[in-house]
Amino acid sequence: MTTWDAVTYDSSFSFVAALGSAVLELLDPQPGERVIDLGCGSGELTAAIARRGADVVGVDSSPEMLAQAAERFPHLRLLLADGHELHVEEPVDAVFSNAALHWMRDPDAVLAAVRGALRPGGRFVAEMGGAGNVGQLVAALQAAAFRLDIEEHLELPWYFPTPGEQASRLEQAGFTVRLMHYVERPTPLVDCTDGAADWWRMFGASVLESVPADRLDELLTTVNEVARPHLVDEVGTWVADYVRLRFVAEAR
Ligand code: BEZ
Repeated sequence: MTTWDAVTYDSSFSFVAALGSAVLELLDPQPGERVIDLGCGSGELTAAIARRGADVVGVDSSPEMLAQAAERFPHLRLLLADGHELHVEEPVDAVFSNAALHWMRDPDAVLAAVRGALRPGGRFVAEMGGAGNVGQLVAALQAAAFRLDIEEHLELPWYFPTPGEQASRLEQAGFTVRLMHYVERPTPLVDCTDGAADWWRMFGASVLESVPADRLDELLTTVNEVARPHLVDEVGTWVADYVRLRFVAEAR
């Protein structure tokens, strides 16, 4: 289970919400629509959905993230819940999700829960990591761990499907897939002064937990060395190799 440093997330990783505008446009929330923002994090996009006049509830399994969302956006309705067990009293018009589904360990259980929360004809609009996402970041960690002889400790917590795999799971779960985009989206880590190491500290905390504490600094220094030729651009900015899967699916 990942425990989030929600304040650093907001200050140094604000691109997560800022780059969510493409999927927000796909959702195109309408005034009065009932929407769930699944994995709402610190609430930036939930607030953007609310500003369009939709009746939105932000759902997240992290108490730290929800506390940050409540502090920043006190008017939002927020709910502590897990995507695998999403229960609603009345089916909603849309479920939205940005950069959260790849954290959820049982994709079919999540899709079944989302389908159960939607009215027939309701839409599931989401963006998540797709196959190959953060491939260089992961390869750098694995190479660094191998070099330092600690690789048996690493287990990655994410699920990055291909478009075909995701479409097929959606269909199995009772959705008609209306749109599936699979795009590379290199993402500048503008506020990460320590580059790939900062990214791993924020998003890979659960992975790094299993590394012996006295080897961690050495491991992360080596990660930056290995990743630098692949992930630092010509002006010296670290750029994470994100690959996105963005889809619209309609509940049958
Ligand atoms: C992503 O948004 O693609 C992502 C973020 C953190 C860890 C892994 C993937």
